Order: sequence, then C-alpha cells, then structure tokens
Amino acid sequence: MIISSTADFREAARRRVPRFLFDYADGGAYAEDTMRRNVSDLSELSLRQRVLKDVATIDLTTQILGAQQDLPVMLGPVGISGMYARRGEVQAARAATRAGIPTCLSTVSICGIEDVAAAAPDRFWFQLYVIRDRAFMRDLIARAKAAGAKALVFTVDMPVPGARYRDAHSGMSGPNAAYRRVVQAMGKPGWAWDVGVMGRPHTLGNLAAVLGRNSGLNDYIGWLGANFDPSIQWRDLGWIRELWDGPLVIKGILDPDDAREAAALGADAIVVSNHGGRQLDGVMSSARALPTIADAVGDRMTVLVDGGVRSGLDVVRMLALGARGVLLGRAWLFALATGGEAGVTKLLDLIAREMTVAMTLTGVNRIDAIDRDILAKA
Ligand code: GLV
Repeated sequence: MIISSTADFREAARRRVPRFLFDYADGGAYAEDTMRRNVSDLSELSLRQRVLKDVATIDLTTQILGAQQDLPVMLGPVGISGMYARRGEVQAARAATRAGIPTCLSTVSICGIEDVAAAAPDRFWFQLYVIRDRAFMRDLIARAKAAGAKALVFTVDMPVPGARYRDAHSGMSGPNAAYRRVVQAMGKPGWAWDVGVMGRPHTLGNLAAVLGRNSGLNDYIGWLGANFDPSIQWRDLGWIRELWDGPLVIKGILDPDDAREAAALGADAIVVSNHGGRQLDGVMSSARALPTIADAVGDRMTVLVDGGVRSGLDVVRMLALGARGVLLGRAWLFALATGGEAGVTKLLDLIAREMTVAMTLTGVNRIDAIDRDILAKA
C-alpha cells in the first residue's frame, strides 16, 4: 500500500493488526465526539498565506525543557504499543532518536524502562500515572532516574478510565475477550507471527514487579481501573516534586485554573490534553482549550499539547495557538504498526516536510517565529 499521509498509516495498521488492537488505539470515550473535534477543530483553523518573505532556509530545531530537538515534536506515551510491532517501544524510541526528538514511555508499556531508555540515550522521557501504590510509584521514579530520564510526565486525567464502547465489542474487554483475541489474531497471520509469537513476552514491562508473570493483556484494563487513585489532590503532588528534581511535566490539563495549579506546584511544563478523547467525551478539544491556557501560564512554564495532530501542518497550527511542542499519539502508533522503526522514521520525515511547507507558505522560517499572527482572523 502506498503511504503518503497519517491517514494511510491508519489504514495500513487497520489491515495489519487484530481488530481489538486497532479499535483500542483508534477509539475514544462514549460517542467519540471530543476525539473527532480534536481533529476537526484543528483542521478548521485557517492560516494566512504569505508570499515573497525570503523563506529559503527553514529551521525546524527548537529547545524544549532545556534540550535541543530537531523538531518541536515528541512521541507521546501510548499504552501497550509493544503489541503493535515486535518490541515496539524500543523500535519507536530508535526512530525518535534518529529524528532528534524525545520519546516518552508509558507506564503501561510492553518493553520496560531500561530497554527503552537504552534505545533513546539523552532523549528518554517517562510517563507515570497517579496510582494507589505509592511505594510502587517511588520505585518507578527511581528506575526512571537511574535510566537517565530527562523528564517525568505525570498523567493526571485518568482518575478513572473513560468508558470506551468499542473495547467491549472488539474483544479488548467484555465476554470471552481472550478467546476472541486469539480468533482475531489468526486472521492476521503477518502480525500473529511477527508480534504475537516473536514479540513475546507480552507482559507489561514496568508492572511485572507488582503483577508478576500474569502482567499481560488480560490484566491490563483491570489494572488500569483498580489502581488509579481518584482521591488525589493537587497538594498531594508535592512529594513527587520532592522526589524528582528533573523536569516535571503534568499531562492532562484542559482548564486554565488547573494550569495555574500546575504552575504553583512548580511543574516545568504541562501537556494540554483530553487524553485523545479517551476520557470524558464532551470536553473541549485540545485546539480550543490551548490558547486560553497558553495565555494564562505560557510565561511561567512550557506549554505542550496533544490531541488531533495528524500532519506537520497540524503541528504548525498547534504552535500558532501557543504550544512550544506537540506530542504525537495515534499518528506514531499507526506508523509503528505499519512499518516498525522504519514506519516511525517515515512518519517523522513526513511531519518535517509538511512543517516546512506550512512554514514556507505562512512566511516564517524559525519555530519561535510561529505565533497567532500566522492564523487568519475568523
Ligand atoms: C491509556 O492511557 C488509555 O488511554 O487507554
């Protein structure tokens, strides 16, 4: 299949992986309205076409949390991405490192912290959930630190997992889930051999210490539900700030008041995010929430964003709305599912080329020159 866009990667991934995995990644909460608006609100933003502005050299490099990057993009944390390609998190980390950008490993990954950190020297970020077992959190933070993590990304928008209707139908959860997954895998022989057989173990690399040998897919959704801690408050995060002296990123902010709380806590950055529309359907899209939040705290902390970014043009739009950097989610996961490390490399090349075109035709040649001025007034 010819791949020239993230939509092509999505379609190629749909053909390659069993349905439960495709739907788990592709789906969102309830009617998926917020998930769709993440994409449509962004793509509806008009740009000002500017010409003859000497844009012969376009510089895509930037500085995020004190480190130089070749693109203002990160691979955002995505759970169980090692189910989409053989030892997938390591492959993705290698592609990110080659492209000169950080990769952020999810708590609930297949490959563990140490393996992925080794594939992303100096560019390894680690994502952590607020979970009930504080000793376990402390342990994971220590592991991330020992592995040289450059940022700790603390996800706060999952006190309960959102209801994802597709998962019950697809076999990710629901009756006879394990049996249905095996039947689906048999219908995808390429994936079944490459990942299903050769990509073992499918245990959750970072949770093996608490879940033991049963830390596989069957326990995944159950673990998410049982271990998240809805009782946590802003003031409880102080101990994390004390434990972790590196850059602290709070992910899952959609309201300026919460952004101010994160700034008061001493966080270095936030990720404006609704978890890819996978949590509370009906909340604002990231693109709509971003400008007010950037206005509220942008002078005090680094504002990052995710949600609905499907092209380099979308990256430029998010920067114009006030973000300093963009985390990709589904876009890189589908590229990984399609072509492993080479797929992610191809995606990042595509993003860079599309950013170059967008910047050329809006008349800006540096990342920090991108601001609201490139957007057309409604
Ligand atoms: C986990 O973070 C998920 O969104 O499924």
